[in-house]
Amino acid sequence: MARRETGAVRRRAGRPSSVAILLVVAALAWLSPAPVAADAPTLGGPFELVDQNGVRRTDADFHGFYPLIYFGFTHCPDLCPTTLSLMGRALDALEARAPGKAARVVPVFITVDPERDTVELLHDYVASFHPRLVGLTGTPAQVEHVAKNYGAFYAPVPIGGGDYMMDHSGFILLMGPDGDYVTHFESDVTQDELVEALAQHVAE
Ligand code: NI
Repeated sequence: MARRETGAVRRRAGRPSSVAILLVVAALAWLSPAPVAADAPTLGGPFELVDQNGVRRTDADFHGFYPLIYFGFTHCPDLCPTTLSLMGRALDALEARAPGKAARVVPVFITVDPERDTVELLHDYVASFHPRLVGLTGTPAQVEHVAKNYGAFYAPVPIGGGDYMMDHSGFILLMGPDGDYVTHFESDVTQDELVEALAQHVAE
């Protein structure tokens, strides 16, 4: 009886290392940050908006290409200009490295502030970041629809005097030529990381 107990204790004593490893692995998995879009693979779908030239654009217009999508607003003082500049520089760098791939990437800026971001305002705004940057706006309902389906969050924040800012998500979304989700990048992605990822994911 005593021996068997001892044996049982020994067997158990031999186990904690593997159990501990499993616990550490589980803890690390639990502690690692969740992606911005937790249900990312389901992102995408039909939308109808208008571009910076006043032309009606739908998701179908981008099929065959890799839309690199960022949601923001033209009055944004910091995050939007920084991110759109980064996207432009990354696209130029990809162009120098793999022009065939760069040609299939379409940088897209979708406003989350359709009340202020008119076609005219978007026209000059997107041109200041990249000649190929497509700016999209629409009715508040159209913008709400595309933002929801593509995982973007936004909310107006009053700043006094009837003025407001938009609190909004800062991720960059890469969609594939079939309109499906490919991957996304946090707002602190570096230019090199973005270029690397595009070179890896985009087919010529
Ligand atoms: Ni912004």
